[in-house]
Amino acid sequence: MLDKINDIKKEIQNFSIENEEELEAFRLEFLSRNGKVQSMFGLMKDVPNEQKAEMGKSMNEVKNLAQQTFDDAKIAIQKNDKKEFGALDDITLPVEPTYSGSFHPLTQALNEIKQIFLRLGFSIADGPELEDDFHNFTALNFPPDHPARDMQDTFFVRKSDDKDVDDLVLRTHTSPVQIRLMKEQEPPVRSIMPGRVFRNEAVTAKSYFQFNQVEGLYVNEKVTMGELIETLVMFARLMYGSDVKYRVRPSYFPFTEPSMEMDVWWENEKGGQWLEILGAGMVDPNVFQSVGVDPEKYTGFAFGMGVDRIAMLRYGIDDIRLLYDNDIRFLQQFKS
Ligand code: DAH
Repeated sequence: MLDKINDIKKEIQNFSIENEEELEAFRLEFLSRNGKVQSMFGLMKDVPNEQKAEMGKSMNEVKNLAQQTFDDAKIAIQKNDKKEFGALDDITLPVEPTYSGSFHPLTQALNEIKQIFLRLGFSIADGPELEDDFHNFTALNFPPDHPARDMQDTFFVRKSDDKDVDDLVLRTHTSPVQIRLMKEQEPPVRSIMPGRVFRNEAVTAKSYFQFNQVEGLYVNEKVTMGELIETLVMFARLMYGSDVKYRVRPSYFPFTEPSMEMDVWWENEKGGQWLEILGAGMVDPNVFQSVGVDPEKYTGFAFGMGVDRIAMLRYGIDDIRLLYDNDIRFLQQFKS
């Protein structure tokens, strides 16, 4: 008799219940009126009186085991179903936050600059980041011994001793795109040329080994310095507001004559300061000659501005490295 009880116990333990059908099969097999547990109690009448207490105890244990197995399996199956159908456990829980993407502050500043110059009648052009010495320096009227060609400023990709093979550099400014444009296109030319530039500089809060510029070029008959200044003032007003305080100062660049720089007044807690936002000037006749444009017939102006500086002013960013770390916590502040 004890063997029989133990057999039923083993059967219960080995029964696999993975789904509703198997749960029902288990119930029929053990817990129903004609099931094995009930039949087991039916055998009690044949048990000798002195063993009845002991057998009754064992049978009750098996009955409880069957009931417990059934209850546990039922709960487990219900839980699984919930997961499968994505049912909500608790609708009062706060939802997980979702983050939408946003444009990088440099992209936002660049887009504003582009919009302004498109309004002023400029088109947009671009050129390669890997340049040769001719486009980056020689055609722009840099003397052969100019310090900007020095290893300290320029990343040389190929340094050549052969006179017929040009050095290759990561462009140090966007001005070489002016050269490419003038070689391709007869005047009038009126374009801006945005792009990334590279300089072998120490990384600090104020300088980085790469940054972004927007070059501008207008070549036509009778282009004057007055038009250059008017264009730049219009830019400053549209970028910083019509009450922007600005000044232009004489400067020097090999590729323009005369040359100038433009500063805007920047208010801050300490009072304020002049910040340089761009270099500009009238295209040097030597530059026209190097691209086959007649300097007797045409004049032109050019300018180059730093997008990083403009974005930093615009958004109050005090460390240029933040623009290149791509830390999501930083970038999320610039939703537009
Ligand atoms: N290429 C100069 C630089 O990187 C910026 C510049 C100055 C560009 C004057 C110009 C210009 O086109 O006319 O510092």
